[in-house]
Amino acid sequence: MPEKILSRDHPGSGDGSSDGSESLAPMDRRVFLKVAASGVGACYAAAIGYPIYRYLASPVETASEVAAVNQVTLPDAIKMPVNTALIFKFGVKPAILIHHPDNTWTALTAVCTHLGCTVGYEPSRQVIFCPCHGGTYNATTGANISGPPPKPLTEFKVATTNGQIVVTRS
Ligand code: FES
Repeated sequence: MPEKILSRDHPGSGDGSSDGSESLAPMDRRVFLKVAASGVGACYAAAIGYPIYRYLASPVETASEVAAVNQVTLPDAIKMPVNTALIFKFGVKPAILIHHPDNTWTALTAVCTHLGCTVGYEPSRQVIFCPCHGGTYNATTGANISGPPPKPLTEFKVATTNGQIVVTRS
């Protein structure tokens, strides 16, 4: 059955009775309510969907953003005593900065090339040591010396700039 449109006070109804206060005909109200309901539905979908999207997408975005890091500044590292090391984050992975007894610096990835454990510095032997399976690396070059690690650690460039240590991807 076709909708009957009431024309009372409806602009363009042709009865000339409009007094300037417009009221919507039932058909207009129905359309308005459909549009309003669609708008409210879209808002609810956005309100619910956006946090879910951020929850799911942010780790990937963050990981890719952090993986794109090419340089890290370590302002206080310059105060490190000789024959000590500092583990810091270079992007998403740990890295190690070593202040050698001869006052030189080395920065390397701190992820063991065997199974990915985080390595540390052993001052008594002046080597990098992996606690998981006993692998050792040269503390200056990152070369794998003994144990299961199959490859050397990746070396970064180290510069002392304005009293800060700046580590850059090679
Ligand atoms: S994970 Fe480092 S030696 Fe195995």
